[in-house]
Order: sequence, then structure tokens, then C-alpha cells
Amino acid sequence: MKYLVTGGAGFIGSNYVFYLLDSKEIDVVCLDNLTYAGNLSTLKDVMDHPRFKFVKGDITDREFINKLFEDEKFDVVVNFAAESHVDRSIDNPAIFLETNVMGTQILLDAALKHDIKRYHQVSTDEVYGDLPLDRPDLFFTEDTPLRTSSPYSSSKAGSDLLVQSYYKTYGLPITISRCSNNYGPYQFPEKLIPLIISRALADEKLPIYGTGENVRDWLYVTDHCKAIQLIIENGTVGDVYNIGGHNEFSNLDVVKIILERLHKPESLITYVSDRKGHDMRYAIDPEKIHRELGWLPETPFAEGINLTIDWYLNNKEWWEEILSGEYQNYYEKMYGQE
Ligand code: NAD
Ligand code: TYD
Repeated sequence: MKYLVTGGAGFIGSNYVFYLLDSKEIDVVCLDNLTYAGNLSTLKDVMDHPRFKFVKGDITDREFINKLFEDEKFDVVVNFAAESHVDRSIDNPAIFLETNVMGTQILLDAALKHDIKRYHQVSTDEVYGDLPLDRPDLFFTEDTPLRTSSPYSSSKAGSDLLVQSYYKTYGLPITISRCSNNYGPYQFPEKLIPLIISRALADEKLPIYGTGENVRDWLYVTDHCKAIQLIIENGTVGDVYNIGGHNEFSNLDVVKIILERLHKPESLITYVSDRKGHDMRYAIDPEKIHRELGWLPETPFAEGINLTIDWYLNNKEWWEEILSGEYQNYYEKMYGQE
């Protein structure tokens, strides 16, 4: 089997590539155009792996994508490539529509044309909008209506609908997963957990939006990768699967846990203006993926957050190069002569 993994130089895509190479006999072509969020150095340990190949390219480039599909003859496409940061989508929505909606459509066309056996779309629970804090009994199911808040979540909902239409209209064998907030190694330090770890280590102020009461349902990244693979291997074609582990924490609680572990004072916490349209609570009901595919999260938050903090402590170079901008020269350094 040969998989195309798009966005594999980003956070979840790279963890998925490592998971596939470690535990499956699958050939992996990773396609990534290395936006600010893509970091080729993340993939340095697998660059010479006999079942791995990196290709630099853009999912919105139709001609290039067609040629790649023609040359490589993929069996499965797993689309992680996206603009993924809500705050950036509030500043500049256009690129979110180009990458997340148009890029997905171009991949779908190529998948159809080249008889791909499975197209899997990696989506998010943010397409369901948010839940109120005073109704802890409510959870997102696969039947919860789409009700987006940010340009990011709107673009992801748009791509989900397109993916579903390619199933219904053209019979393309698709699946979609909608996962809650991920954390773990290689997450770009603009997202809450790595931002707090890196700033706390430098004794910098820690910006908490609004009151810090907003709740997210945290899942360790490897548990997400395993769920995606189960869906591809055993899921029902045409279906959506929610992924999450009943692991809800307020932002403030997450920050306090990290500070305690790093022996840093809570006085670093600084309350800043709230995010526009800030979703209050996300919470997944993972009953379907548990019942149909036997998936359960394996990493409790207490363990996952320790693994994550240890990883950031042991891999300072990785995130310091991001903070300095040096990582963007990595491709040039490695491949500039080719
Ligand atoms: P990320 O921002 O870390 O990585 C995205 C990757 O996509 C980067 O390597 C980037 O270079 C690449 N990319 C962007 N535009 C591209 C283009 N036009 N062509 C080729 N590559 C392109 O994101 P992430 O957190 O790893 O998220 C991956 C996917 O999972 C996204 O689709 C996101 O919506 C979804 N998701 C993320 C979370 C989360 O908590 N991070 C939760 C649920 C779902
Ligand atoms: P984020 O990691 O951006 O993920 P998402 O918006 O996709 O859930 O943010 C997680 C939560 O943390 C969200 O409620 C916004 C909040 N947040 C802060 O309070 N301060 C920050 O500096 C960031 C980046 C996020």
C-alpha cells in the first residue's frame, strides 16, 4: 500500500508519518509546501527511511497534484494539510479558504480521477461550534449540526461538506474524522500548550484570553493518529467519526498544571483581551468510534502532559529555531543545491 500524507511536516501529520513507518508496512509519500507551520527538520529522522519520501508542493496547485498522483499511484490519501490556527484565521481568512476548501477540492478531484481506494479527511470538532459551560451533559455527536464560529472552523466545515458531496455524487470512497484539541511533540509554539511551555521556560508573560474559563477536550496526538488509522482500515465508507477522550480542562487549569510541573510562578499569567468569537467549550462524544472500531484513548492527560513537557525540555533546539525563524532556512540548507 502507498499512502499520500499531506501536511506531514506539521504537528499531527508528522506524528502520523512516524506512527505509520513504525507500525505498518506502508509506503508513505509526505507532501507539504512548508508554510510557516511546516518544519522539515521535524522529519529529519525519517528522511532516509526506505518507505518514506518527502515532496515539497502545494495542494492548491492542480497541475502539480495531478502529476504527483499520476507518477505515484497512491492507494490512500490522508489530508492533514491546512491552515490550522484560529487567531490567524481571524486576521486573514482568505488563505484558509484557499488551502482548506480549494486545496481539498483539488485533492478530491485527483483522488477521483486516479481511483484512490480511500480518501480520508482530517477534520476538527470546531465545525460543531461550541457548547455552554453550564451544560456539562452536552457533547458533540456525529449528528450535531455544523455551526461554526471562526473563519478557520468555517473553512474546515466547508471542506467536510465537499468531501461528503464527492461520496454522494461521485461515489468517492471517503471517511472523515473530527477530533478534539491535540497536544504532544512537534506542536507549533503558537498553540496554547507549547506556547505556555516555551514562554514559561523563558519567564515570559503567559497570555490568557478572556477569563481563561474556556474548556477544551485534550487528546494526546498519538491517540489521534491511531484512531485515524483504525478508521481508514475498518471504518464505514462515507461516514464521519468523532475522536476525543472525555478529557476536559479549562485553559486556566491547563496553564496551572504546566506551571506547577515547570516550578514556575502563577504570577506569569496575564489576562489579555478575549479572542473574537471565542468558543466556550468543546466536548466530543466518542461513543461511535469506541463501539464500531474499539478505539479508546490510551494516554491519560497526566501522562500525556508530562511526556509533552519532557519533549519540549529535551528538544529546545526544535522550538528555539522556530522562535528565531531559523527553521525556515532548513529546506534551503538541505535541498538548496538541488
Ligand atoms: P499544522 O498547522 O501544525 O500543520 C499543517 C501542515 O500543513 C503544515 O506542515 C503546513 O506546511 C502544511 N500546509 C499548509 N498549507 C499547505 C498547502 N497548501 N499545501 C501543502 N501543505 C500545506 O496543523 P496540525 O495541528 O498538525 O493540524 C493538521 C490537521 O488536523 C488540520 O487539518 C487541522 O484542521 C486538523 N486538526 C487539528 C487539531 C489540533 O488540535 N491541532 C485538532 C483537530 C483537527
Ligand atoms: P489554541 O491552542 O489556539 O486551539 P483552539 O483555538 O483551536 O482551541 O487555543 C486553545 C485555547 O487556549 C483557546 O480557548 C484559546 C486559548 N488561548 C489563550 O488563552 N491564550 C493563547 O495565547 C492561545 C494561543 C490560546
